Amino acid sequence: MTSSAGPDTPGAGGLRRLDSDAAVSARGVYAGYHGIDAVAGVDLTIPSGELVALVGPNGAGKSTLLRLIMGLMRPRRGEIRLHGQAAAAQRRTGAVAYMPQHETLDWDFPASVRDVVFSARYPSLRRSPVRRWLPQPWVGHEHHQAVDRALRATDIAERARRHISELSGGQKKRVLLARALAQEARLLLLDEPLVGVDQNSEALIFQVLRDLRAAGQTVVLVTHDVSGVRQHADRVVLFNRSVIACGAPDELLADERLLLRTADPALARGLEAAV
Ligand SMILES: Nc1ncnc2c1ncn2[C@@H]1O[C@H](COP(=O)(O)OP(=O)(O)OP(=O)(O)O)[C@@H](O)[C@H]1O
Ligand SMILES: [Mg+2]
Repeated sequence: MTSSAGPDTPGAGGLRRLDSDAAVSARGVYAGYHGIDAVAGVDLTIPSGELVALVGPNGAGKSTLLRLIMGLMRPRRGEIRLHGQAAAAQRRTGAVAYMPQHETLDWDFPASVRDVVFSARYPSLRRSPVRRWLPQPWVGHEHHQAVDRALRATDIAERARRHISELSGGQKKRVLLARALAQEARLLLLDEPLVGVDQNSEALIFQVLRDLRAAGQTVVLVTHDVSGVRQHADRVVLFNRSVIACGAPDELLADERLLLRTADPALARGLEAAV
């Protein structure tokens, strides 16, 4: 599994093929900032309906990879397809939801928790030329139901009318997760959603992610939480500028040579504690 699910074997003519059924298919991807590659030679296939953990040290390019998958950055070389389509096209239709590591939301903006979560529905409202101009209470029932489900799933429903400036750090994190959930996208990209949340919230978030997977959605999350990955993820991707290995958590997290190559101190510490 280690090699089969990572860099794929070359197809006919020596070219690496993109898998059009996969939720994410990346081939030969190079990208970075100011002429320096942050990711280099990424080959990765993420099948639909899996809960996948992306693990690697600080500066490994994990957030960059999520931005590329989200279509917020374009590769300098190589290609990424989501469900067989270009990443930017999938983003515009709302088929992919993203929770960034560093949120740029202005928490003093006069908006309620519900307003922020409701904003996830804008891509689907945009598809209707009439609805896009309607005030929030007048838009279709299904949009409000999606928002309610997301608020309940993240246990933030009772604070729905609160102003967002009144929330704690962990509650803000849950609002951002609720916003990503409310989009009801086929693919969710979550960049370190567990940082700064307490143990109860962490258990809740993993439960939410497992429910999404059970409903057939694909979840990719960046995390340093080894025991959570072991318990809940279908697949772990060890990443350091490119895919070091990709496979079942128990298999990969038991391979010391791979972990040394990944060189994630947090991962190594977590493993020592787990042995
Ligand atoms: N906006 C940016 N401008 C310039 N360089 C950047 C930018 N964002 C990231 N980088 C650089 O790209 C590299 C990869 O960064 P990235 O944020 O993708 O890593 P990461 O694996 O998510 O790290 P962390 O675990 O700290 O979040 C780093 O060397 C970083 O300094
Ligand atoms: Mg990051």
